[in-house]
Amino acid sequence: MNDNDKKKKPAIVFTRYTPYMVSDLENFYNSKGEKLPIKPVMSLCRCGLSKNKPFCDGTHTAKGIDGEKQPDRTKDRVVNYKGKDIIIHDNRGVCSLDHSCVNLLPAVFRRHAKRWVLPDEASVGEIIGVIEKCPSGALSYTIGNRKCTELDRPPAIKVAKNGPLEITGGITIRDDMESKPESVEHYTLCRCGNSKNKPFCDGAHEKTKFVDDVN
Ligand code: FES
Repeated sequence: MNDNDKKKKPAIVFTRYTPYMVSDLENFYNSKGEKLPIKPVMSLCRCGLSKNKPFCDGTHTAKGIDGEKQPDRTKDRVVNYKGKDIIIHDNRGVCSLDHSCVNLLPAVFRRHAKRWVLPDEASVGEIIGVIEKCPSGALSYTIGNRKCTELDRPPAIKVAKNGPLEITGGITIRDDMESKPESVEHYTLCRCGNSKNKPFCDGAHEKTKFVDDVN
């Protein structure tokens, strides 16, 4: 067994009523890509009210955390958009409204259009490049018989600007709802407290104008 095998894997553990308890994380960044301080076990805010974001400062104890999914949330449903050489899969229920897709490849990912994905309007390479930037795992693709949802990156958490925690590298989550991310390798966790699809971000931070000036 080498040193890498002996290393403990990071994990995120929580219940519907508690902040995110993160253990054994080595890579923790703010939205500018700067390293944030880490402890072997640390508690991250998920109610949006901490004055020490992204860390929990106990503010949630006054109001409580409601981690239930809401019945009127956008349903977890994967829609397939079939092109000549690629099928693009999309689950609107977990989209964190990062907007990389519509900003970087507007001919394929068409903001507000009824059929919003047109998979033949760019090269396969361009489409893959953009899908790999999708932090939530809402977008994935299939080429031939191979469905590609997972990337190979080191475990890390990035705090998105006025948005969710962006998890990469397959960090395990364990909670009391047996939550399963759309992509095991990457997903986004709500930290504004307003998602209807907790623990995952559903983009509500944008509508509710969640602000974290520091990170
Ligand atoms: S951080 Fe995106 S919905 Fe809360």
